[in-house]
Amino acid sequence: MKLLVLNGPNLNLLGKREPTVYGNVSFEAYFEELKNKFPEIELDYFQSNHEGALIDKLHEVGFSYEGIVFNAGAYTHTSVAIADAIKGIETPVVEVHISNVHQREEFRHKSFLSPVCKGVILGFGLKSYELAIESFS
Ligand code: DQA
Repeated sequence: MKLLVLNGPNLNLLGKREPTVYGNVSFEAYFEELKNKFPEIELDYFQSNHEGALIDKLHEVGFSYEGIVFNAGAYTHTSVAIADAIKGIETPVVEVHISNVHQREEFRHKSFLSPVCKGVILGFGLKSYELAIESFS
């Protein structure tokens, strides 16, 4: 099984960025842990700070991979274009957030992506990604 872990804007700063909210582990280090935890799954990783690059990646893998685990960062709360891309592909997408966005500012409570995703996992720290991967197995 082939899955893509897709991270949006500012998630390249994990480990350094607001550690009280997002922890102090870099995503690269965590991704190594994920690959060890799921040796039977072919896991790919892509991160971009650019909306169009995320959409291009969804188009690229969205007719051949079995699943996408997607943390769109702040684009979650703003992007009709990303929601349309998810709607337009065949591969199911699970929306992930590290923090519990519903405990945070009101503008983070709205997700344009949830209605077009297979499911949503949020609030479990980096473990949210692991739970999302498990949902495909
Ligand atoms: C986030 C939550 C978003 O509101 C925020 O903009 C992020 C990270 C999370 O993983 O908790 O960049 O998606």
